[in-house]
Amino acid sequence: MLTPSMVLKLNQQVALEQYSANLYLAMSAWCAHKGLEGSAAFLKAHSDEELAHARKLFDYINETGALAVISAVEAPPKAFGSLQEVFQKTLDHEKSITAAINGLVDSALGEKDYSTFQFLQWYVAEQHEEERLFMSILDLFEIMESGGRSLFMIDREIASKGK
Ligand code: FEO
Repeated sequence: MLTPSMVLKLNQQVALEQYSANLYLAMSAWCAHKGLEGSAAFLKAHSDEELAHARKLFDYINETGALAVISAVEAPPKAFGSLQEVFQKTLDHEKSITAAINGLVDSALGEKDYSTFQFLQWYVAEQHEEERLFMSILDLFEIMESGGRSLFMIDREIASKGK
């Protein structure tokens, strides 16, 4: 059984994952508007992944007999300066999510809530993968700046990373 404090924190994480889904969907819309179809498709698929992250937490909270709560989430930004800025923001955002997951893990250990600790290990591994993925996309822009790729090619490569 979860403590009230753990239920609150897990529900806050549900809202964070939902915000992530909205943020990536807003980025997808901006990319589509700019004709960057590969990045738009990648970010839309990633938005779906974030919804799955929220649902997994939602299901866990419900399975313990606690009440999963759906909260209002703030609107994400709708305009970005460049494609590189979009992906810098995704990496910055994922780092903040990693910090939030680490905080949850700390709380679970502090409460000797080993069930939640075990459940959160999936998110720990997922955050490692997500940071790695977004760093690899940002690397493409450094290649572009050194004259190795065009923005068109980068957009196509980003699409292939979603497969
Ligand atoms: Fe749900 Fe991209 O972290």
